[in-house]
Amino acid sequence: MKARSVGIIGTGKYVPERVLTNAELETMVETNDEWIVSRTGIRERHIAAPEQATSDLAYEAAVRALKSAGITAENLELIIVATVTPDMTFPSTACILQEKLGAKKAAAFDLSAACSGFVYSLAVANGFIQTGMYSNALVIGADTLSRITDYTDRNTCVLFGDGAGAVVLGEVPEGRGFLSFDLGAEGAGGELLKLEGGGSRYPASAETIQSGKHFIYMNGREVFKFAVRVMGTATEEVLRKAGKDKSEIDLFVPHQANIRIIQSAMQRLDLPEEKCVINVDKYANTSAASIPLALVEAAEEGRVQAGDTVLLVGFGGGLTWGASVLVW
Ligand code: UT7
Repeated sequence: MKARSVGIIGTGKYVPERVLTNAELETMVETNDEWIVSRTGIRERHIAAPEQATSDLAYEAAVRALKSAGITAENLELIIVATVTPDMTFPSTACILQEKLGAKKAAAFDLSAACSGFVYSLAVANGFIQTGMYSNALVIGADTLSRITDYTDRNTCVLFGDGAGAVVLGEVPEGRGFLSFDLGAEGAGGELLKLEGGGSRYPASAETIQSGKHFIYMNGREVFKFAVRVMGTATEEVLRKAGKDKSEIDLFVPHQANIRIIQSAMQRLDLPEEKCVINVDKYANTSAASIPLALVEAAEEGRVQAGDTVLLVGFGGGLTWGASVLVW
């Protein structure tokens, strides 16, 4: 029996209202707009309100995605939330969201693969639907990085923002939907990007708070090198698996961490700027939300038409990477 074709049948996104500009950051740490824009491409980012947690951002994106798919919450069968900033250690953000949505029938779990989490989650949901275990799935990338960012550390605080992007997956006509995935990890690089506090290794204590273990730690230069390398290799591999040439890409949706990383990938693919989605200037790096925010925004702007070939690729803590080729 031929495997079912699975694709995106609904999209939604949400960013919190509050905008934090580079000018405002200049008053908080020793930095300046020129440095941030030239080194990262970021101009502003959205920050969750004090009462908003990751499930609240995810909820807003999810409601929009379900509406655009024409599926009611009651008919939803699976919810996967990709996040490294869950509302709490447990229950999972996906279970909290299941209750908020009233998606009583849906199985629900979180997936932890940092900025690659959304593509990992797409691959998992695609597998579930292909095998017939479920007929639809809500896949969300949502993160509230502002809650784990040290706003006295200029090396990291200029880089991150909050947001959520959601898609509904379902069966699509043959020839459409996901053609290939390439997922990977290099656990040896785990030390380069991490948050150590609050887990079973370093449970929360006065010491973990004092030593900054509840904030993101990153070796930016090393992560940058990893990113440039795997954006290239993952893209080539996922295209090979899909049987597509780079010239066939209609829309390139890279993880929005740094404009220089995106540009190096575009050069490697010989892609003109109009085929690449770039919104890192407005939202900064939103971790698992970054790729869906870019994809959903491009779809809302009419930049992708039925039949277009779309390539998603991201990298992140773990270290991890994830890429996918799909026909819209
Ligand atoms: O989703 C995955 C997560 N992470 C990433 O994708 C990040 C990947 N890495 C990067 O994007 C870049 O490495 C950064 C944007 C983090 C840094 O850019 P860079 O060109 O690699 O700069 P650098 O770390 O080599 O730092 C250059 C200088 C340093 O000063 P010295 O040591 O040369 O005197 C930093 O202290 O820039 C300084 N610096 C800053 N200056 C002004 C670092 N942060 C800032 C800042 N404002 N915010």
